[in-house]
Amino acid sequence: MPRTKIAGIGFYVPEQVVTNHDLMRHMETTDEWIQERSGIVERRYAKRHEETTSSLGAKAARIAIERAGITPADVDFIIFATLSPDYFFPGCGVLLQRELGITHTEIGALDIRNQCSGFVYGLTVADQFVRSGMYKNILLVGAEVHSMGLDYSTRGRNVTVLFGDGAGAVILQPTDDANQGILTSKLHSDGTHAEQLALINPGAHSGYHDHNTDFGYDESLEFGGLFLTEKMVEDGMAFPVMDGQLVFKTAVTKFPEVIKEVLDDQGFTPADIDLFIPHQANLRISQFVQKKLGLPDEKVWNNIQRFGNTTAATIPIALCEAWEAGKVKKGDLICIAAFGSGFTWGASLIRW
Ligand code: UT7
Repeated sequence: MPRTKIAGIGFYVPEQVVTNHDLMRHMETTDEWIQERSGIVERRYAKRHEETTSSLGAKAARIAIERAGITPADVDFIIFATLSPDYFFPGCGVLLQRELGITHTEIGALDIRNQCSGFVYGLTVADQFVRSGMYKNILLVGAEVHSMGLDYSTRGRNVTVLFGDGAGAVILQPTDDANQGILTSKLHSDGTHAEQLALINPGAHSGYHDHNTDFGYDESLEFGGLFLTEKMVEDGMAFPVMDGQLVFKTAVTKFPEVIKEVLDDQGFTPADIDLFIPHQANLRISQFVQKKLGLPDEKVWNNIQRFGNTTAATIPIALCEAWEAGKVKKGDLICIAAFGSGFTWGASLIRW
């Protein structure tokens, strides 16, 4: 059975830089608070009405496709991971297909809704498809436009300051080289705290049916359901919520656990890792995990300082930056790991 290799990689971030000082004009926050608690100095925001999640994804995808030495028409499966899709439905996978000009239909498109761990989940799904022989050129994209859905008042400051926009993409192909490719992946989930890091509305949980029908209409319920009311927007119910301390505490436990799991699976120790790419949620979380693994600074790639948390895009963006900087060489052992909303988390080991 072949292994799955990363044959091409690319990333794109919007041009507009938004600093902590820019945010201070809209909410009560400080550059010191943001840097001290998260490490973030600036992030990128997409251009309104011009850039969308699928268009950022397409820019990253084109680079990955070119670097893999193929054309868009060669892609036989698309996996798109995002929590900030262009539309409620259809998903970004088909929009990306259209944007890339892939007009043939000998292709599938799958959307992944696993937030911060979306790229690791997507990579793991793609790995199974490639190793089974089902697909030969899978395009996996992680992309987000958070900036269009954040609360820029002081009420939303604990979440808003953390997030940025961006996209990363990889092309996954089979390889017969036993010393190359994805060696193992482990995925986990625990729905106990689903609402502790979430965007609850709009959603079917509100249970609204139009009052002109008798399909369960109830005067006493807030209008909501699959759309937002003015009151919900006023009350801040249209924005993400997060119990930051719970997420932080759980993340620093789960990251080391799942990394140990993939290392043990392959008979490695942390010292065997050449480069560790953690999901970029908070520099403090990454530093904690780095210390726990005993890794020196040169074996860890962080870019949250410049891009904030781009959720499903953080790992492919960081991996691509590291590769472009010459930090990823043939034969290197790369460890990627993510934790986030769900909670869902996972890790993979890749021999480059
Ligand atoms: O990939 C998604 C996964 N998300 C994460 O991994 C996030 C994990 N959690 C975190 O990164 C941290 O919990 C935060 C950076 C979000 C917050 O840091 P913290 O040290 O846990 O702060 P806190 O939530 O306990 O808040 C401390 C204080 C509060 O004020 P009081 O109650 O002590 O008066 C907050 O209201 O800081 C206040 N605060 C802020 N102050 C200035 C919250 N956000 C801000 C802000 N600027 N942006």
